[in-house]
Amino acid sequence: MKRSERKIQHLNSALSLNREFDNGLDDVRFVHHSIPDLSIDEVSINTKIGELNLSSPIFINAMTGGGGERTAQINRRLAMVAKECHIAMAVGSQMAALKDWDEEHSYRVVREENPDGIVIANLGSEASVDQAKKAIEMIRADAIQIHLNVIQELTMPEGDRNFRGALTRIERIVTELNVPIIIKEVGFGISRETARQLSDIGVSIIDVGGVGGTNFAEIENDRRDPKLLFFNDWGITTAASIIETSQAPTVSIISSGGLRDSIDIAKSITLGASATAFAGRFLQILVSEGEEALIKEIEQLEHHLKFIMTALGAKTIKDLQKAPVVISGNTHHWLHQRGIE
Ligand code: FNR
Repeated sequence: MKRSERKIQHLNSALSLNREFDNGLDDVRFVHHSIPDLSIDEVSINTKIGELNLSSPIFINAMTGGGGERTAQINRRLAMVAKECHIAMAVGSQMAALKDWDEEHSYRVVREENPDGIVIANLGSEASVDQAKKAIEMIRADAIQIHLNVIQELTMPEGDRNFRGALTRIERIVTELNVPIIIKEVGFGISRETARQLSDIGVSIIDVGGVGGTNFAEIENDRRDPKLLFFNDWGITTAASIIETSQAPTVSIISSGGLRDSIDIAKSITLGASATAFAGRFLQILVSEGEEALIKEIEQLEHHLKFIMTALGAKTIKDLQKAPVVISGNTHHWLHQRGIE
């Protein structure tokens, strides 16, 4: 199947297969304190991931591009929303455009629509330093994401089967580029071991991309026979993965994977994240209800986050990171067996 056809099929599958998985965050509960001594007007949701300053901890994660006019339209509309809400946005994998110049348009629209906003480039771990530089130039990106998607590739009939050398290529990119580099999963979560391998080669921002939302094993299994059903229930939940990743020294964490609402955002931050990213849910709202609805949703997420921060007496994202929680259920069990207390 051609790459551009696959992009469209991913979009359609992501929109139709929206079964909810457990992101683990329901196992996390804030400890209530009755005297927060704070007014909601004092609450600030500015944050920082690595060297990147963000006015909101919410951003639009990598989704699309490289599927002709349909993906260009979606990217343009997502970029309009990002501009209106002053939030960052990542584009989908740009490999399509590096291999076929006709496809550049579907990514460039994002920068055209939002000339001064924070835009993040995206490639897979097969990318060379040169390709990473070209992807950044293509959209004048402020940062680049490198995605890790072994389970998706293995489940994809025409996917990669050889995963050698990814860490070395990532290390070269980290050493040679001078924009922030985000290493991300796509819905299977990052373990403590992976986070430490990445931190050891100088990676300073990790997006955990945990289990809980878009499930690329399910999406790829949908169009393959025989199916690799064991991958449909594979990976580390978003909650467990944030805590696993927080065991690696000096990395900023982005929480993503099935985030639903502002309480998921607040809990993610308390577990150790500095920012949170949404993909499937935002796409669903954009396609079914339009830009205005998505703008309203993002404004409400931010507004409700301020309510939660006020209740917790947290003036800043850094304060929220210190709010006490109790962890129960499967997440507690997972952390206990992994020796993380
Ligand atoms: C994605 N995602 C993704 N990630 C990436 O790094 N490069 C990509 O090209 C894509 N493409 C893509 C297409 C579509 C249609 C979706 C829904 C998602 C993965 C995405 O960035 C995110 O990691 C996962 O979707 C998990 O987050 P959600 O969807 O559960 O919020």
